Amino acid sequence: MYRCWSETNMPATYCVNIVLLACYGGLVESKVVDARQSPRKFPDGFLFGAATAAYQIEGAWNKDGKSESIWDKTCHMVPSPIADGSSGDIANDSYHLYKRDVEMMRELGLDFYRFSIAWTRIFPTAYADKINEAGVAYYNNLIDELLKYNIQPMITIYHWDLPQNIQDLGGWTNPNIIDWYTDYARVLFELFGDRVKYWITVNEPREICRQGYGKGSLAPLYTMSGFGDYICGKNLLLAHAKAYHIYDKEYRPKQNGTIFISISAARYEPNSDSEEDIKAAEDANMFDWGMYAHPIFFESGDYPQIVKDRIAQKSAEQGYPRSRLPEFTPEEIDYLRGTSDLFGLNHYSTHLTYRNESVIGYYKVPSYDDDLSIISYASPDWLTGSHPRIKTTPWGFYNLLRKISESYNNVPIFITENGYATYEGLEDDDRVYHFKEYLGAVLDAINDGSDIRGYTPWSLMDNFEWLQGYTQRFGLYEVDYSSPERTRTPRKSAFLYKEILRTKSLDKDYEPKLTSMTIDEGH
Ligand code: BGC
Repeated sequence: MYRCWSETNMPATYCVNIVLLACYGGLVESKVVDARQSPRKFPDGFLFGAATAAYQIEGAWNKDGKSESIWDKTCHMVPSPIADGSSGDIANDSYHLYKRDVEMMRELGLDFYRFSIAWTRIFPTAYADKINEAGVAYYNNLIDELLKYNIQPMITIYHWDLPQNIQDLGGWTNPNIIDWYTDYARVLFELFGDRVKYWITVNEPREICRQGYGKGSLAPLYTMSGFGDYICGKNLLLAHAKAYHIYDKEYRPKQNGTIFISISAARYEPNSDSEEDIKAAEDANMFDWGMYAHPIFFESGDYPQIVKDRIAQKSAEQGYPRSRLPEFTPEEIDYLRGTSDLFGLNHYSTHLTYRNESVIGYYKVPSYDDDLSIISYASPDWLTGSHPRIKTTPWGFYNLLRKISESYNNVPIFITENGYATYEGLEDDDRVYHFKEYLGAVLDAINDGSDIRGYTPWSLMDNFEWLQGYTQRFGLYEVDYSSPERTRTPRKSAFLYKEILRTKSLDKDYEPKLTSMTIDEGH
């Protein structure tokens, strides 16, 4: 494990390149990373792509038979809960401009494109009684356009845009969703599985459940933490596992693809070398992502013991007759274990952590935050763009990758999202720095034994950033939302990424320039 933060009095920028210091004696080994080794090669077969999601780019929210999703509903609320009052009604208009999107992928030289399917474009009623042919045609055209240029489609089956009809029945808190979701997944395998070899069942259980049903910071904006987030988590994991089993038994033999889940994981590091802080950080990691990863990847399955114990204890103290965390039955534990071919990892940032058991009234009771009872924060020294929680902390990413490898028997990891938020502008030097450092951390983790198969920047282009609207920009390509054509223009980071893909190596001294973007031969 290595770390580097403000106590070293060394700007993170230099620290990571020169020496990754043991900040706390005994706890951490020092690790020298020699920047002069640059350029460093990626292993053969390592895949590079880019990601987007349907609601964030497609637009055409009510065109050609598409029905209402929870994000359509949320964005049309009055007053608007979206930072700039915007919506994904038109977004990047990729419903009409998908050929330009594929052209950008050819410019970059991508191996694969990760995108999601809008459930409401396929099933107008949300259920399997009717299939919307126009929606199917849109995705067929996109998939065929990708394959024409040898770009592998990687489909996320569910990236947050639940049909509003299902939300009206409780959404992910209604256990019937396990069948409704898998009816939908099965139709996708049936329709597209002849050509699609990478399937992601669900994007980020943590965000869907904790933010959607706990904190109310994503649709459906429920604030039922301590119940809603946990019930959602259980149903969602079982829905994922059922889709996995259906694919594995019925479709894999003829379609021969890979199916996995994408879990968002932050890295929690102790605030000091005290045992209490170390324990607080470990508990935070288990609550943050272990809660979703252990049932699938841990050898004995189930939720992490600490998560079960803390929630059971708090529930008992609060007078509840049973734990607010709904248990898995032994059959469910078996059913869930091993249901992912890869560990799909979405990662953005690191937080420093200490325990906060004593400040009564600090958290709502009951709630996830109260169950965990920690404070986490980011050092002001860490590079931050436009998003206060996203800081460039590559050493935390390295520690997270190693932790996942060590905890789950060196599971193959596929990085399905990593990125950095800025404001508008093509000169995104901070994002260039971010990608160099994070890809450096990936190479370090590979050198130290992690089995990492691919990397996916979030995002191919700017898009609708949920409650933040268009105020946060994540794209390799900038999108001009004032132009009807939604003009896409490459940023410096796009030129960096193209060079990395061309050479299959990372040269930290390479300084990308804004020139004209072309398609290289073979793309
Ligand atoms: C989500 C994306 C989102 C990105 C940046 C991820 O959690 O999957 O949809 O845009 O983070 O916030």
